Amino acid sequence: MAHLLQIDSSPRGERSHSRQMTTEFVMQWKQAHPGDTVTYRDIGRNPVPHVDELWIAAAFSSPEQHTPELHEAIRLSDQLVDEFLAADIYVIGVPMYNFSVPSGFKAYIDQIARVGRTWLFEPEDPEMPYKPLVHHKKMFVITARGDGGYDSGGRNEKWNHQDPYIKTVFAFMGIIDISFIHVENDEFGGQKLAASIANAQAKIIELVAA
Ligand SMILES: Cc1cc2nc3c(=O)[nH]c(=O)nc-3n(C[C@H](O)[C@H](O)[C@H](O)COP(=O)(O)O)c2cc1C
Repeated sequence: MAHLLQIDSSPRGERSHSRQMTTEFVMQWKQAHPGDTVTYRDIGRNPVPHVDELWIAAAFSSPEQHTPELHEAIRLSDQLVDEFLAADIYVIGVPMYNFSVPSGFKAYIDQIARVGRTWLFEPEDPEMPYKPLVHHKKMFVITARGDGGYDSGGRNEKWNHQDPYIKTVFAFMGIIDISFIHVENDEFGGQKLAASIANAQAKIIELVAA
């Protein structure tokens, strides 16, 4: 039995392709694995705060040194990290905004990329002072984009700071088993969009079956 964390980061509701696809993915996953449990977090509609000075002071000091003010400043982050670490599998919906991820998604990453909790700093190892702490997890990322051609060899490849960023930041924490599903062509609509949605749906079936 596995525990799944579903995260949506589109501010859109029913119009959101990434949201529709995470819903579809989780529905199919539950059919295939009825014993698995799911936690849902909607950072698109209930955004987490950006980090501030108190947060930074709390994150980079030991909990024993925390004043009540620092304790409060890091409380939500601790909860988000606990929730993140409790999952075995992640299903994450991420729109492409200005060639990267939405700021709300970045704010979430800043809350969970925590020294001592999801990664370690070991300055005595100059070869690799950063050590990941999140192991043996599987991640499915469903992106939605207005245009297409962002993959290898595509006309927009050099503009794609979305999946390279996602791969880098989760690998930093130790998550390297990441499968991507893309819905593209939202701006074009019509057949182009419909074909991309059909491709994404086929990939969901393939990945859930595997
Ligand atoms: C603020 C903003 C920035 C966007 N930037 C891009 C972009 O850089 N490249 C792109 O292909 N589409 C871009 N889009 C289009 C979205 O990626 C597209 O509408 C996608 O379907 C949104 O995800 P959602 O359907 O899950 O809400 C942008 C949309 C918005 C609202």
